[in-house]
Amino acid sequence: MLLPTSIIAVLPGTWPAQSAPPPANANYTSLVDRSKIRNAPLNQATPNCPATDTYCYWTCTLCTRNDTDIIRCPNSLDWGLTLDDGPTSFTTSVLDYLDTQNVKVTFFVIGSNVYENPEILQRAFKAGHQIAVHTWSHTALTTQSTEVVIAELKYTSDAIKAAVNVTPKYMRPPFGDYDDRIRDIATQLGMKPTIWDLDSNDWMSADDPTFQLSWIAGNFNEWVSDPTLKRTGHISLEHDLYNQTAAQIPLVVPILLKANYSIKTVHNCVGDSSAYVEMWLSIQPAVAIDLII
Ligand SMILES: *[C@@H]1O[C@H](CO)[C@@H](O)[C@H](O)[C@H]1NC(C)=O
Ligand SMILES: *[C@@H]1O[C@H](CO)[C@@H](O)[C@H](O)[C@H]1NC(C)=O
Ligand SMILES: *[C@@H]1O[C@H](CO)[C@@H](O)[C@H](O)[C@H]1NC(C)=O
Ligand SMILES: *[C@@H]1O[C@H](CO)[C@@H](O)[C@H](O)[C@H]1NC(C)=O
Ligand SMILES: [Zn+2]
Repeated sequence: MLLPTSIIAVLPGTWPAQSAPPPANANYTSLVDRSKIRNAPLNQATPNCPATDTYCYWTCTLCTRNDTDIIRCPNSLDWGLTLDDGPTSFTTSVLDYLDTQNVKVTFFVIGSNVYENPEILQRAFKAGHQIAVHTWSHTALTTQSTEVVIAELKYTSDAIKAAVNVTPKYMRPPFGDYDDRIRDIATQLGMKPTIWDLDSNDWMSADDPTFQLSWIAGNFNEWVSDPTLKRTGHISLEHDLYNQTAAQIPLVVPILLKANYSIKTVHNCVGDSSAYVEMWLSIQPAVAIDLII
């Protein structure tokens, strides 16, 4: 029996208001040693580009730090397909399609949407997709105080834990808006900042009437035939927030498979055996017994 997706079972427990930066939570703040957080300025609005990029601020310069940031899949035929801003009612059609192909992807989820659609997150998790943090309210993190950034990440992590009983190790800053302060907070909370090296620009379809949906598959076709992109693997950005962008997944997956790419979760493509703190999940029973002995 299939449950209609219109039935919404909100996450049990007490959670902040949806779609607004959550209040600071002293229990969360105490997890972070603030003296070890680089002191990048708090932006009033983004982008707020300084003359010199002291704090590796991606929004302005696409700066990344290779000691902390996940940017692309290292192996040349690996492709990390990532889908942001769910879970939404449109995620289910994506999951249906991915099941038919036995393809696993990474979902960077919004805590407010996990609150609303925990059963969709459960389905994605059980299917073997990677679940990662994309903040509670989808705010530009460099505009928020350190306490609020901590709350954005931890409430989302805790919502994921409440829904699927794992603690995610990967996070993505909304809009790619991050600098060394955000890196340090995420890292201290046990989350690896994960950006992308190829942006499908599918998000533009939401508010640019001249955007043509065919450009999304068009981008993938260009990427797989570009010889300069053959040296490494990639991590691409798409969204399951909108019906029309979710509907592109069945078009782009065959492009990658035909070009001989292996579509992998981010943690798999970077050689991390687990996407979650709870390591036992990724250990086969026989191996676990060996470890205990
Ligand atoms: C902090 O943790 C304590 C002990 O678990 C709990 O009683 C309290 O409600 C928590 N505070 C917040 C803001 O969640
Ligand atoms: C990381 O970046 C530094 C500075 O740009 C560079 O010297 C170093 O080789 C890089 N390391 C790796 C593993 O790419
Ligand atoms: C979602 O998009 C698909 C494919 O473009 C379309 O067939 C369907 O009617 C859309 N559904 C909604 C709810 O907009
Ligand atoms: C994919 O791999 C197959 C088998 O190795 C090969 O015949 C084919 O040419 C490859 N296709 C592309 C686009 O590289
Ligand atoms: Zn997003």
